[in-house]
Amino acid sequence: MSAPLVLLLSGPNLLLLGERQPEIYGTATLADHVARAAAAAERLGLVLEHLQSEREGDLVDAVHGARGRCDGLVVNAGAISHYGWSLHDALATFSGPVVELHLSNPDAREPWRHRSVLAPVSDGTVAGFGAVGYELAIEAVSRLLRPSARRG
Ligand code: DQA
Repeated sequence: MSAPLVLLLSGPNLLLLGERQPEIYGTATLADHVARAAAAAERLGLVLEHLQSEREGDLVDAVHGARGRCDGLVVNAGAISHYGWSLHDALATFSGPVVELHLSNPDAREPWRHRSVLAPVSDGTVAGFGAVGYELAIEAVSRLLRPSARRG
């Protein structure tokens, strides 16, 4: 049996991590986060793919492409998390575990960040743990992929 495949999706402006508001997002780059997630995946016997885009449609395409091919998704959609209904609808068609991820804690920030339109179609959210969140999100997907370890 081949190793489960997990797709990590990164939305707009995450390409600027490292330079972008380091007081909020830290100094690690997106490549650093992806490397951390890939290392966690490897430790857990998963294979990680990554896609970053500034465009919601690309993320929708990626979710369509993941259907029946990938086993789980980790999604940090950036600001799209707060208004991206087409990404919401795409994620609703994905049958495997979906973990929403944020470096910062949107609930502790501006009111417009308090609503995630992706939360209702995610199994859970990892937010506010900075770079460690990438490992936690992979760990969460890994557990959700093992039914006996799903909860508790
Ligand atoms: C973010 C939080 C979003 O509100 C914001 O628009 C981002 C990054 C995070 O990782 O903390 O671009 O998703």
